[in-house]
Amino acid sequence: MSTRCQIIPIYVIQSNLNVCACSLLQVLECCIISLDFFLLPLLSAVWIMLPAYLPNPVAALFGGGTPIDLGRNFSDGKRVFGDGKTFRGLFIGILAGIGIGLVQIWIMGTYGLDYLPRHTYLSVMLLATGALLGDLCKSFFKRRSGKERGIKWPVADQYDLVAGALILLLVFDPSWLFANMILPVFILILILTPVLHRTVNIIGYYMGVKEVPW
Ligand code: CTP
Ligand code: MG
Repeated sequence: MSTRCQIIPIYVIQSNLNVCACSLLQVLECCIISLDFFLLPLLSAVWIMLPAYLPNPVAALFGGGTPIDLGRNFSDGKRVFGDGKTFRGLFIGILAGIGIGLVQIWIMGTYGLDYLPRHTYLSVMLLATGALLGDLCKSFFKRRSGKERGIKWPVADQYDLVAGALILLLVFDPSWLFANMILPVFILILILTPVLHRTVNIIGYYMGVKEVPW
């Protein structure tokens, strides 16, 4: 047995080493590919959208008081926006979105992080404001379609903030939008948004902040 081990030709060992090295390289290659094609766009998607994602949960936490439509009805006899859209929620939500954006700008200035999209004061303001204006517009059309406050309205409830934020960017800062919103990032935002929206709303529901878990 030991004699057979000793006569393993050197080229067999070398070829085994080659196979190992190749496998290791393939694993490394996979890591680099997944970093380039998945992880970086995912991080970029979250980084871009943070100032737009934060206003909604903050409005749910701190909103309430005078409704934006002052309790008035539209010409169809239904509420313009409803009691779920208040001045306090709107302003505190937008401030929170701008606040997190300023923190992101500070982090980039301090730590570099050149692989992430670079926010500007304008992009942050447009994302935060657009998110809650999108939410407000959604509620306007939700009331027109006869749905009461808090009733589920799939797709619109999840994407209102994305639509609002991107439309404001498109109108007031298109160069920033097209420089940073590359296709894989945009696709990831479309996948990520409903997942995050649902998760945060379920958490809000169990915390007693939201009346419904959607
Ligand atoms: N909120 C607020 N002001 C806003 C947006 C939200 O005060 N501009 C608060 C309200 O208390 C609201 C909660 O956040 O009930 C959750 O927001 P959302 O789900 O957008 O409102 P809904 O109550 O579901 O109303 P709608 O059916 O119009 O979407
Ligand atoms: Mg809602």
